[in-house]
Amino acid sequence: MNFTIALLRGDGIGPEITEEALRALDAVGRRFGHEFQTVEAYAGGEAWERFGEHLPAATLEICRSADAILKGPFGGPLSELHSPKWSGVETTAILGLRRAFDLFMNLRPVVVYPEVVALSPLRPEIVEGADMLIVRELTSGIYFGERGERVVEGERTVWDTEAYSEGEIARIAHGAFQVARTRRKHVTLVAKSNILDSSVLWRDVLSRIAPEYPDVTHDYLHVDNAAMQIIANPRQFDVILTNNMFGDILSDEASVLAGSLGMLASASLNAAGFGMYEPIHGSAPDVAGQGTANPIAMILSAAMMLRLSFKLEAEAAAIESAVRSALAAGLRTPDIAAPGDVAVSTERLGEAIADALGP
Ligand code: IPM
Ligand code: MG
Repeated sequence: MNFTIALLRGDGIGPEITEEALRALDAVGRRFGHEFQTVEAYAGGEAWERFGEHLPAATLEICRSADAILKGPFGGPLSELHSPKWSGVETTAILGLRRAFDLFMNLRPVVVYPEVVALSPLRPEIVEGADMLIVRELTSGIYFGERGERVVEGERTVWDTEAYSEGEIARIAHGAFQVARTRRKHVTLVAKSNILDSSVLWRDVLSRIAPEYPDVTHDYLHVDNAAMQIIANPRQFDVILTNNMFGDILSDEASVLAGSLGMLASASLNAAGFGMYEPIHGSAPDVAGQGTANPIAMILSAAMMLRLSFKLEAEAAAIESAVRSALAAGLRTPDIAAPGDVAVSTERLGEAIADALGP
């Protein structure tokens, strides 16, 4: 089959890890007889260099006419946060893309492969077998809420607001219940309903919807407790459903189970099933261009694209098992190398994964 992918290579380590995702896609295409056609589009710092804006209309057009979007990380060094090239890039490019395609459902699988159990700073008996899916709301909440500022007697006060409508909660709650049906059939809602009224609304909507999924159980945790439970007893979780902000924080935390932020992929979907696929990590400008970045999150994002946008389950699974066999063979970028391991380059790990996919 033929598929068109809008390709946004991203900033910092984006181009190097994207290259390895393309290598894996090539290999899987050869093995299974598919043609993945990529169309380059620009956003973030790279788009600023070329066109003087972070999210050009032409990029949205290319994304719109593709079957899926594969995206590297965007953003620049913290020290250059206020330069025109980098200022506001996350809001304009990343949030802009999420909003433009209404990609409200963000799926962040946290899987601890047996090959990487030893990489986690947590004890093996705690992380072994952990397998959770964070379902993060991605197009509303405090990221998109009303903002304001007032100055009283020279002192500035600035605010952001958390707001959710019933409809916004309902659609992602349905998504979470449906995806739970394909897994261990349990949803944990994470919010802060002892303090926040918007969290009470999440609980209300979830209780109203839950009877439509009698085969799926659900429970509730306050976010502070959930943050603790994720590292104290991660195996208790199947699907974690949460808002935009809590999902951002908890997914970075949960990546520690998998050994490195460089291991976690994500999918962001809209109601029509259109998706954008990206690693959960950032652009790591401090190590860009050195060939030390871990390409696995980007490669696994491509696997999620095959599974969710192209319905190529066997092909997605083949990439995942190629990643595991490269890890089992001891190939490690520095972020996942144990003391005494010889770390390999981004390219070397990418090649090993592609090799495991076949000639
Ligand atoms: C993520 C990132 C983004 C977010 C940033 C870069 C805007 O941290 O995808 O988790 O906060 O959503
Ligand atoms: Mg984040």
